[in-house]
Amino acid sequence: MAMAEHVKRFHGVWPHGLKGLVSGTATLLFFFFLVVIAALLNWMNIPIIRMTSFGQPILTSPTARIHHDRIQYPLNCSTSNTTETCPDNYPSVFELEESTSTETCPDYFRWIHQDLKPWKSSGITQDMIERGIPSADFRLLVVNGNAYVEKYRPGFQTRGAFTIWGILQLLRLYPGRIPDLDLLFFTGDKPQIMKRDYKGRNATSPPPVFHYCGEKAALDIVFPDWTFWGWAEVNITPWEQMLRAIKKGRERIKWEEREPYAYWKGNPRVAANRIDLLKCNLSDKIDWNVRLYKQDWRKEMGQGFRHSNLEDQCTHRYKIYVEGATWSVSEKYILACDSMTLMVKPRYYDFFSRSMVPMRHFWPIRRNNKCRDLKFAVEWGNNHTREAQTIGKAGSRYIDEMLRMRNVYDYMFHLLNEYSKLLKFKPTIPLEAQRVCAETAACSEKGLWKEFMMQSMVKSPSDKLPCTLPAPYEPRAIQASLDAKEKITKQVETWEAEYWEKRNDKKQ
Ligand SMILES: *[C@@H]1O[C@H](CO)[C@@H](O)[C@H](O)[C@H]1NC(C)=O
Ligand SMILES: *[C@@H]1O[C@H](CO)[C@@H](O)[C@H](O)[C@H]1NC(C)=O
Ligand SMILES: *[C@@H]1O[C@H](CO)[C@@H](O)[C@H](O)[C@H]1NC(C)=O
Ligand SMILES: *[C@@H]1O[C@H](CO)[C@@H](O)[C@H](O)[C@H]1NC(C)=O
Ligand SMILES: *[C@@H]1O[C@H](CO)[C@@H](O)[C@H](O)[C@H]1NC(C)=O
Repeated sequence: MAMAEHVKRFHGVWPHGLKGLVSGTATLLFFFFLVVIAALLNWMNIPIIRMTSFGQPILTSPTARIHHDRIQYPLNCSTSNTTETCPDNYPSVFELEESTSTETCPDYFRWIHQDLKPWKSSGITQDMIERGIPSADFRLLVVNGNAYVEKYRPGFQTRGAFTIWGILQLLRLYPGRIPDLDLLFFTGDKPQIMKRDYKGRNATSPPPVFHYCGEKAALDIVFPDWTFWGWAEVNITPWEQMLRAIKKGRERIKWEEREPYAYWKGNPRVAANRIDLLKCNLSDKIDWNVRLYKQDWRKEMGQGFRHSNLEDQCTHRYKIYVEGATWSVSEKYILACDSMTLMVKPRYYDFFSRSMVPMRHFWPIRRNNKCRDLKFAVEWGNNHTREAQTIGKAGSRYIDEMLRMRNVYDYMFHLLNEYSKLLKFKPTIPLEAQRVCAETAACSEKGLWKEFMMQSMVKSPSDKLPCTLPAPYEPRAIQASLDAKEKITKQVETWEAEYWEKRNDKKQ
């Protein structure tokens, strides 16, 4: 097929997506308008007509609304001298604001059902958990709304500490709503529970182990990683603050004015896949439209992280995502830039990425054909700037909306609730486990560690319920969506093959 023709065909894919975007923006504007009007009416103390969750309008005056300022509960270190104690005055239940209707959670929450499926019919026994201990860094229990931790291994850097911190914040957000549970957590990179070890006639049932990522061959239960509460070692602030900074950073250079190349900055030594990517960097022999930079964390630590600010990295029209040892926490920061993300086919997944779609949220790049794929993608984007911007924007919007901190907590909420339903025993606190709360975790910390904990602390219980968990995917629907993604990816590969063929023809 001629290039012109397939580009045209590509355009054929677009009007629909663009229309969606335009009408999406219009809807947003409309809602914004409504909100402004409502705020004005509220301010002028004019009664507002509100809809109940059943759609009947009700008339309320703003003063009748329960809109008290919520009581905040700062970290209470006053009771401490050597060992921290947990204060007993944090609310153990939460009050709902009147007539709050709940929304349905984002689509990616459906994977919760999928991740727990191996235990759906058997349930989870104490024995299964005990068998998982060798794979775990810590065990976390919730009993009567309080959390307890038993540490098995130190774990890597501050991952464990910030993951536990995150769970403690969930308990503060939804007090009284997290049921009793007993879970194992692994904080390393590689998935631990491999399907192949639990096959065959004599196979035992797999132990449930929580972890930050999964892969096709594994049964790890995916859970948000520690960076949502901060990554102290490398000065990456909690996600809420970081996303705010990136949003500001991405306004600084308009897409059109960004460098028309594919950018990546990271630590290449952690994976062969990344070393391989370095071959595509600009050299005096060839330009694959790729600009790569090494992140030297040790040097950065010595220099106060002046050259590693993620919010200063929205400088190129295209940004490359490539996995590290396994999944990489960089994914959300890269996608948030409004640049088109060129995604080197990942092998691992985290909790939010399985609902992203190639050519809608990112451009797919093959692992074994990186340089040629990257060159084609960049050239295509520079020829079709509107479409490339649309993909870049859609990727960022996915991150802005789907990964709001509220959604992260709601994902944890539902995952833990569904997990707890599978337990066939009543969790009891092991002798070696310690009670943990925000105070035991943060009071004795200092520096960046403490700062990030204070920034990401939940200060008062929620006044509304979590979003509603959508039903599981039908197995057929999962296959259909995988097939659809595969088909789009194959289509891109076909266009690319044609492009390179034509170039070779020209040269001869
Ligand atoms: C804390 O201080 C109080 C009074 O100063 C003392 O009675 C108590 O033993 C101390 N607790 C610990 C764990 O040191
Ligand atoms: C701190 O905790 C103690 C012990 O639970 C409690 O009596 C006190 O009121 C708390 N202080 C604040 C400011 O919440
Ligand atoms: C399963 O266990 C039986 C009895 O212990 C043993 O004879 C058999 O070889 C085992 N099969 C496999 C596949 O391990
Ligand atoms: C890639 O090429 C650019 C431009 O020549 C250079 O500045 C950069 O250091 C190179 N990156 C790596 C990782 O070698
Ligand atoms: C980009 O446009 C140039 C000039 O029209 C054309 O030669 C090239 O094949 C196009 N490349 C892609 C990938 O669309």
